[in-house]
Amino acid sequence: MTQRSTVILGTGSYAPERVVTNEELSKTVDTSDEWIHTRSGIRERRIAGPGETTSDMGAAAARRALEAAGLTAADIDLLVVATVTPDLVMPAAACLIQTKLGVPSTAACFDLNAACSGFVYALDTACAMLTSGRYRRALVIGAEKFSSIVDWQDRTTCVLFGDGAGAVVLGTTEQPGVGLLGTKLGAFGESAELLYVPAGGSNEPATAASIAARRHCVKMKGKEVFKLAVRVMDEAARDILEQHHVRADQISLVIPHQANLRIIEAISEYLELPMERFFVNVDRYGNTSAASIPIALDEARRSGRIKTGDLTLLVAFGAGLTYGSALIRW
Ligand code: ACO
Repeated sequence: MTQRSTVILGTGSYAPERVVTNEELSKTVDTSDEWIHTRSGIRERRIAGPGETTSDMGAAAARRALEAAGLTAADIDLLVVATVTPDLVMPAAACLIQTKLGVPSTAACFDLNAACSGFVYALDTACAMLTSGRYRRALVIGAEKFSSIVDWQDRTTCVLFGDGAGAVVLGTTEQPGVGLLGTKLGAFGESAELLYVPAGGSNEPATAASIAARRHCVKMKGKEVFKLAVRVMDEAARDILEQHHVRADQISLVIPHQANLRIIEAISEYLELPMERFFVNVDRYGNTSAASIPIALDEARRSGRIKTGDLTLLVAFGAGLTYGSALIRW
């Protein structure tokens, strides 16, 4: 039987118009451009406008990906949205995006939560569903309105995050050696409390007291997350390279999750791969969680940094703590 593999037919991204600089943040919390930039590499981030939702941003990115693929919403039979900030607890953001785009009612639509690793998890999920032969064309979206769960009075977290969305259209090919060559996913659930939102779930539903105590906002032990992120991203990258008998220097471009420039620099050092082989846009967007890799992928593709025949490595980590890597031949 011929082997099917998954290929990326088009990419798209969307960032809200409003730019919030470090300078602007330093007027509301005790911080500075110098501190934020030296510790994280971030200069500015985009923040969604009033009334602008995760599904609005996801739909905008998806429209661009469909256009790039030369397809329409009618061609899609699988829609997966990676997000930790869906418009509503239910139904899924995927169903809201389905309606905004006009994706047929015969399409499977669902959300997936693996935090900042969400896009790599969603890519793997869609890939498995497509190569099963039961679905033909998928939209995989990473979309976040992270500003909605950030504590804007907590300088240790609020300076790091931003809003946005990225998307890819996936199809299949029988051409050997191209497309999504493999993925590696995993999680360290025992470290869940290093990065989490304590209230708002079924464990601690909203009360006036939980809201007053800001328990619906992100809490993070930054230093511990940093150390684990470096170790886990390095291992996830090495594992997938080894699995596919690829040397690090054969990778044309690494697209890492954009959380902190120092994390990316550490991975570059560990893999002995120069920073020129890493795509970086954390300076302009901050950490957009599940949207970070697909936004970077789209920018890399559109700016000509990815060419046919290239090998690209995606590597992510996020709350959970989850991790994931993927190897793509274009
Ligand atoms: N402005 C000024 N000072 C600050 C700020 C700020 N915004 N934030 C913290 N500080 C202070 C601290 O209070 C501390 O002061 P102290 O020494 O008097 O106690 C000092 O700066 C140093 O703080 P550290 O936390 O030690 O700084 P560090 O160098 O570790 O950098 C950072 C902090 C940027 C958060 C880093 O640890 C990091 O990036 N961690 C990883 C976070 C991450 O990637 N999270 C995303 C996960 S993905 C997802 O799923 C969402």
